[in-house]
Amino acid sequence: MAKPLPTLNLIGAGRVGQTLARLWTRQGVLRVQDVLTRSPDSAQSALDFIAPDEALASVAEHMVDMRPADIWLLAVPDAQIDACAQNLAAHARQRGDSPALAFHCSGAQGAELLAPLRDLGWSVASVHPVLSFASAQTAVAQFAGTPCALEGDAAACDSLRPLFTGIGGACFDVRSQDKVLYHAAAVLATNFAPVLQALAEDAWRATGMPDALVLRLRERLLRNAVDNIVALGPQQALTGPAARGDFAAIARQADVVAGWDPQAAAAYRALSDLALRMAGHACEPPQT
Ligand SMILES: NC(=O)c1ccc[n+]([C@@H]2O[C@H](COP(=O)([O-])OP(=O)(O)OC[C@H]3O[C@@H](n4cnc5c(N)ncnc54)[C@H](OP(=O)(O)O)[C@@H]3O)[C@@H](O)[C@H]2O)c1
Repeated sequence: MAKPLPTLNLIGAGRVGQTLARLWTRQGVLRVQDVLTRSPDSAQSALDFIAPDEALASVAEHMVDMRPADIWLLAVPDAQIDACAQNLAAHARQRGDSPALAFHCSGAQGAELLAPLRDLGWSVASVHPVLSFASAQTAVAQFAGTPCALEGDAAACDSLRPLFTGIGGACFDVRSQDKVLYHAAAVLATNFAPVLQALAEDAWRATGMPDALVLRLRERLLRNAVDNIVALGPQQALTGPAARGDFAAIARQADVVAGWDPQAAAAYRALSDLALRMAGHACEPPQT
């Protein structure tokens, strides 16, 4: 007889919870059991998306309604993880549940947030899939190949690794003490490009550039930058005044940007300093 699948309870079933639970259900990796969100309606529509044919799955109106499970995913917003873990630990203690595995998917927070459960003998972890979950539908289609950062108790990570590889995740380990820097790096890698692009476009428009040309520059410069960084690495892909060590041009441009937008000028100067450092021109040449 086939071994029964491990059961999964979901606290929070938005974009990430629905995506993972649906993939695990479809691949026959886990069996989704109880789903709790802020409202029974959203939990029901999540369950309809995850496992419409799973007769044993149900919507929980309160945490106390949730049955014991092998694995608990706390897929709530980061600010809610702490309180959910405390509530879950209080219910588990009251009912005398056997220790289970609990994890969350925050990139910025570690498994330490689940300490109230660890104190009951549960194994705890965080798994951060490095993907923009724009919607559960898009993320289900895009998930295969997604790098997933595992952090937390060794036993929990060992159990979670095959679950994520089973749905196409590419797992790697992050040490607990490195989690914040790891996530800050992900922010640097992806979140500032739109900010810089918006500033550049505002500055171009301030010079009277027509929208059609702004859009053309957007596409060409961004695509070329990505292609060059991927092909050559960031250091070789760097061009512009910092790459040439042209301190005078940087100072002149920073002054003009300051007259247009002082906050943008602060960013321009800070990023130019980093670019100069990267290009090996760390110190401004002495004035003669
Ligand atoms: N979105 C991304 O691109 C992404 C990528 C990687 C990791 N993550 C991480 O994944 C986690 C979940 O993010 P998400 O984007 O899936 O969030 P989301 O789409 O906003 O969904 C949050 C879910 O949590 C439920 N919820 C909120 N407070 C709750 C509470 N106190 N008790 C029970 N349920 C509660 C919501 O209920 P309702 O449905 O009733 O509103 C909703 O189902 C976060 O830790 C986030 O950092 C997100």
